[in-house]
Amino acid sequence: MSTVTVDGVEVEMEAGATLLDAAKAAGRWVPTLCFDERQAPFGACRVCLVGLADSPKPVPACTTPCRDGMEVETEQPAARRVAGAVVELALSELPGRPAAGTELARVAERLDVTEPRWPGAVHERRGDLRHPYLALQHELCISCGRCVRACDEVQGAFALTATGRGFEANIAAGLDAGFEDSTCVSCGACADTCPTDAITEIGLLPQLSEE
Ligand code: SF4
Ligand code: FES
Repeated sequence: MSTVTVDGVEVEMEAGATLLDAAKAAGRWVPTLCFDERQAPFGACRVCLVGLADSPKPVPACTTPCRDGMEVETEQPAARRVAGAVVELALSELPGRPAAGTELARVAERLDVTEPRWPGAVHERRGDLRHPYLALQHELCISCGRCVRACDEVQGAFALTATGRGFEANIAAGLDAGFEDSTCVSCGACADTCPTDAITEIGLLPQLSEE
């Protein structure tokens, strides 16, 4: 057990708990994008940064284990600046606004990120409709890796692969032959976890195309 203070609220945490768990226990909100509680934490997006009293730099809440006596500040200005910048960059690469109701849209709203500050390269629309039930809109992918982990860890199907780096980072299904020629079992775990609806049920596509 460890005692952690989050924004002045003291919580008792079990061994193995993270600062994100502690923030939730204290009733505090921490933004996340690459985190899904059904998966092992990945620590890729840096949206969940929080301040620590004894650390000169903010730390990712989703991968930092609780230690006795830690004092956490969820809205530390430096941490929130980084989170906002990460979300702004993600938005700036999308060809349109994220669909209302997606995790990305909700996080952007809570962080008060409305317009991307850095207009630059924007992903071209590239849809893959070869699967009978699932649509893959590559241009909406923010490379959080959640779909790949859902497919591997939750379903054990290994149908998706992370590809490329930086602006080119994306995912491929079935070595880019499409879901139907992959090991996909149509469980929908990838669509369920995707924070941008880059993977979604085909039936939901019309509402996604609205900008
Ligand atoms: S398709 Fe969705 S879940 Fe998969 S990496 Fe891209 S944004 Fe993340
Ligand atoms: S949610 Fe913690 S690094 Fe992405």
